[in-house]
Amino acid sequence: MHTLSLLAGLSAAGLAAAFHSHVDTTTSCLWSPLVREGQATCASPRPVLKQKIQPDEEQPGLGRASQNNTSKEHALPDPWVGPEKCHGQFCLFFNPKAGDGLSLLTSARIATVAADLPFPLNLGVEPGAIYEAQVPGKGAGLFANRTIRRGEIIMQRTPALLIQSELHIELDPAAREALYKAAVNRMPAASRERFLGQIGDTVYDKVEKNSFRVFVDGENTHSPHLGIYPEVSKMNHDCRPNVHYRLRDITHTSVAVRDIQPGEELTISYIFGKAPRATRLSQLEDWGFSCSCQQCTLPPKEAGASDSRIRQIQALEDEIETLMSRARGEGIRPEMGAKLVELYLAERLDAYLSPAYTRAALIYSMFGNEERAREYAREAAAALERETGPYARDLESMRELAENPKRHWSWAIKATSGTPVAERPANKTQAKKG
Ligand SMILES: *[C@@H]1O[C@H](CO)[C@@H](O)[C@H](O)[C@H]1NC(C)=O
Ligand SMILES: *[C@@H]1O[C@H](CO)[C@@H](O)[C@H](O)[C@H]1NC(C)=O
Ligand SMILES: *[C@@H]1O[C@H](CO)[C@@H](O)[C@H](O)[C@H]1NC(C)=O
Ligand SMILES: *[C@@H]1O[C@H](CO)[C@@H](O)[C@H](O)[C@H]1NC(C)=O
Repeated sequence: MHTLSLLAGLSAAGLAAAFHSHVDTTTSCLWSPLVREGQATCASPRPVLKQKIQPDEEQPGLGRASQNNTSKEHALPDPWVGPEKCHGQFCLFFNPKAGDGLSLLTSARIATVAADLPFPLNLGVEPGAIYEAQVPGKGAGLFANRTIRRGEIIMQRTPALLIQSELHIELDPAAREALYKAAVNRMPAASRERFLGQIGDTVYDKVEKNSFRVFVDGENTHSPHLGIYPEVSKMNHDCRPNVHYRLRDITHTSVAVRDIQPGEELTISYIFGKAPRATRLSQLEDWGFSCSCQQCTLPPKEAGASDSRIRQIQALEDEIETLMSRARGEGIRPEMGAKLVELYLAERLDAYLSPAYTRAALIYSMFGNEERAREYAREAAAALERETGPYARDLESMRELAENPKRHWSWAIKATSGTPVAERPANKTQAKKG
């Protein structure tokens, strides 16, 4: 939908709107919803668990089951089992065929939605490509046993346990404990062992410390749940991780964002890494975690340089946004795109490159610089695919820009003067002249 309005071209809503929808940074809030993660672009930097969870809204098309009707009428298709062990509207459902077995604690209505969701394609590296080993001071960790290339999918998983957030926060502790115990007992032995092997003293504690926020409605906006993926949880934190993860429906996908050497530890970021050091430390501390990664333990001078780059990135992005909301992006300069990419790379933000490359590609295209536009658009497409997945909303547009810049809506907007953007015909010959 978004893509269509973009490709409809300049007449849609002018340059600013087109640009903004291209580099919409809010997608990182939707698609990287780790519970513990305070996204800089999200409204609140607090861990989600500490926020008031909104009750589910009744959504059209989500099935007519009432919130708490646990009768046979709402029984789920094979091989789902349940509802069982209900407390009020919350029950246990189980699917032995989803991944290594999925225990679902939710309402009957949401269970019918979950039963319709696609399960992962079982992608990931071959057995033996990664291994588990102890990391001093951190417990278990995952390591590469061969070179893993940037863009490789390391693992794609369904949760072992999926819990409606409201249940976790608001159900009375005795009822919650009973449900959690039943859910864990339902897991096949190997899966249960992996689940219990995670950090945390009790099941409740393990859920608090290891869950990712998952939306069970097919749209990634409603029905917050807590998904526990014990294999993913083995990856330790790094503010400059070599693995990025994304969530869609209940599928968790981990992708390499750099080439990873044999013997190197695989890491993900538990927080939004593109934040100054003090913010990162306090976010990690919010859930009792003192960061010892390389980026957190830089000597003062380098730590200062890093913070300064983060501030420059923020300032430059704000400036680009402001200039882009003017008619024809008045005041924008081509080197702003290159500078932005340079700062991201210097700061080793390999897990978050798509906004930088996307902006750079568009800016160079606007100035009719074909070589640069193509180069950045290729990188943007690859980064979008890693970071957001094949459904990334700017992916098609960036591929088209890489393929044929002169047919892209942004081409040479800055190279001709006088004609209002919205009135210029899509005319290669004309655009080229500058
Ligand atoms: C629950 O399902 C039963 C069996 O189909 C039905 O008769 C009943 O009306 C439903 N109750 C509610 C509150 O929807
Ligand atoms: C159904 O849920 C509502 C509110 O969640 C509650 O007031 C009601 O007692 C429940 N009914 C049954 C039969 O559990
Ligand atoms: C690492 O890979 C080698 C083969 O390249 C294999 O023999 C070995 O078992 C692997 N190690 C682990 C821990 O899987
Ligand atoms: C494109 O521009 C060229 C040169 O300005 C002009 O001759 C041609 O008619 C234009 N084509 C269209 C479709 O507007």
